[in-house]
Amino acid sequence: MIKTTVKNEKLFQHKTPCLVLFCSESKKPGADLKNIDEALQGPVTSAFKEKRFEGKPNQTILLNARGAMKADNVLLVGIGKPKEVTEEGLRQAAGTAANLAESSQFKKITFYLPSGEIEKILTKDKKLSSSEPACAVVEGSCLALYHFDQYKSVEKGEESSRIEEITLLSNSKSALAKLKQASERATKVTEGVCLARDLQSQPSNTATPTYLADTAKKIAAKHKITCKILGKTEMQKLGMGSLLGVAKGSHEPPKFIILEYKGGKKNVAPIAIVGKAVTFDTGGISLKPPANMDEMKMDMSGGAVTIGTLQAVASLKLPINVVGLVPATENMPGGSAIKPGDILKSMSGKTIEVLNTDAEGRLILADALSYAARFKPRAVIDLATLTGAVIMALGHFAAGVLGTDEKLIEKLKASGTLTGERLWQLPLWDEHDKATKSDIADLKNIASPGVGAGTTMGAAFLKPFAGDQPWAHLDIAGTSWGEKKPYTPKGASGFGVRLLVHFLEKEAKKVK
Ligand code: BES
Ligand code: ZN
Ligand code: ZN
Repeated sequence: MIKTTVKNEKLFQHKTPCLVLFCSESKKPGADLKNIDEALQGPVTSAFKEKRFEGKPNQTILLNARGAMKADNVLLVGIGKPKEVTEEGLRQAAGTAANLAESSQFKKITFYLPSGEIEKILTKDKKLSSSEPACAVVEGSCLALYHFDQYKSVEKGEESSRIEEITLLSNSKSALAKLKQASERATKVTEGVCLARDLQSQPSNTATPTYLADTAKKIAAKHKITCKILGKTEMQKLGMGSLLGVAKGSHEPPKFIILEYKGGKKNVAPIAIVGKAVTFDTGGISLKPPANMDEMKMDMSGGAVTIGTLQAVASLKLPINVVGLVPATENMPGGSAIKPGDILKSMSGKTIEVLNTDAEGRLILADALSYAARFKPRAVIDLATLTGAVIMALGHFAAGVLGTDEKLIEKLKASGTLTGERLWQLPLWDEHDKATKSDIADLKNIASPGVGAGTTMGAAFLKPFAGDQPWAHLDIAGTSWGEKKPYTPKGASGFGVRLLVHFLEKEAKKVK
C-alpha cells in the first residue's frame, strides 16, 4: 500500500516533487492560486485566457515551479463549477492527478487541502455530503494507483516508476487531527477495495474456491473475525443440492465460506452479505462462446467484495455485527456436470429444473440465501455478477438493485450515490415470480424464451430463497470489470466495497 501522511506547513514552504491543487471553474481564483500564479509569472492566468485550462472536471495542467517555491512542480486539477462539486467529483479529480503524476515519473505527491475551502464549494445537499473531502482524495488517488502486476517479470533498468507516498497538506494545525482520521479511514476502505480487486484479477488457476477459503481464513486470523469453511461433505449434510449441482462438473472442490464479525452488541441481529463466487464460469454444458471467456475469472466478484468488505469493517472496528457468506465453486462442463433438464433439490427443499447450466449463479446463491436465514439477519444483501442483461440495461455505469425491502434499497442507493458506486433499481413484480415456475419442478432457473427481463428474472428466481428476510440483490455483472476510469485502472473495480462500508457505517451509528 502507498504510504499516506498529513502535514501542516505553509504552501510555499512545502517541499515535494509534485504539489496538487484542486481548482474550480470559478471566475476569480482563490488567494493561494493567485499567489502561485504571481510567483510563477502568470502561467495560470494565461492558461485560463487561452482556454487551455479552465478548471473543468478532470482537466489538468502541470507547471514547473522550480525556484519560485519549495515544490518542484504544481499540478492543477479541475473540479468543475463551484457549488456543483461532489465528493465523487473530488475522488475522480484526485485519481486523475495521481495518474498524471505517476506517468510523469514522480515518486511522491502532495494534495493541498486548505481548511474548509473544499467544503465551501461542495454541493450543498448536506444529506449526501457526510464524509471528509480528505477521504475522497485518499480514496481517489490510492485506488487510481492500484496495479496488479505480480505475474510480470521486470527487466533490469525497466522498472516502472510508482508513487510511493501521498501527503495531505493543510494550512491549519487544528485541522490536522481530522485530516489524519479521514485519511486513516480511507486507507482501510481502500485496502478492502484492493483486496477485492486482487482476488478478482487472480486467474482461475490460482483463485480456486480453496484459495478464496484460505484467503478468508488468513484475513479472519488478522482481524476480529471468525471464519468457518464448509466442504462438500458438510454441504451434503445440509442438503445444499443446488450449490453442489453446479460444482459437479469441476475437479476443484467447492467451498462455503462463513465470516462473522461481531463488533456490535450480542443481541443485535447481524447484516448478512452474500457474494457469488464462481471462480470460473465456462457456462457448463450450456457452454459460453469463446470470445472474452477469460473475463469469467471475475465471476467471483461478489465473493471478493464480501471478503474485502468484511476486512474493511473489521479494521475500522465498526460497532456492528456482519456475516459474510461466500458460496464458491467453478462452473465446468465435466463428465459429471449437470445437464439441461436436470432437477436439483436445494437446501430449502424446493426443487429446481436446470434449463441452462450457464444460469449457475442463482443456483449457488439459492442455498447461500437459505443458509443466511440461520443468522436471523436484519437485512440480507447479495452481490453477484449474475446477468449479462444488466450490462444491456445499465452498461458499466451502475449496478442493478432489486429486492423485497424498499427501505433497504433506498439506503443502499443513497450510499451508492455518495460513494460513486451507483445503483439503479429494476422492478420485481408478481408476473416475474410466475415466470420462474417450472412445469415439473418448483422452479426453473431460466424463464421461457420471450419473457426477457434477464436481470429481473435472476432476482425473481432468488426471491423465494430469500424468503421473508429483508433482502436486496445487487447485480454487479456490468460494474465489476471494465475499462479505465479516473480511479479504476483497466480490469477489476472492487465495486461494492465502498458502497457497503458506507452503508454499514450508517447502520452502525443507528444501532450500537
Ligand atoms: N456470469 C454470468 C453473467 C455475466 C455476464 C457476468 C457477463 C459478467 C459479464 C452468468 O452466470 C450467466 O452466464 N448468466 C446468463 C444467464 C442466462 C443463461 C439466463 C447470461 O447473462 O447470459
Ligand atoms: Zn453463467
Ligand atoms: Zn456466472
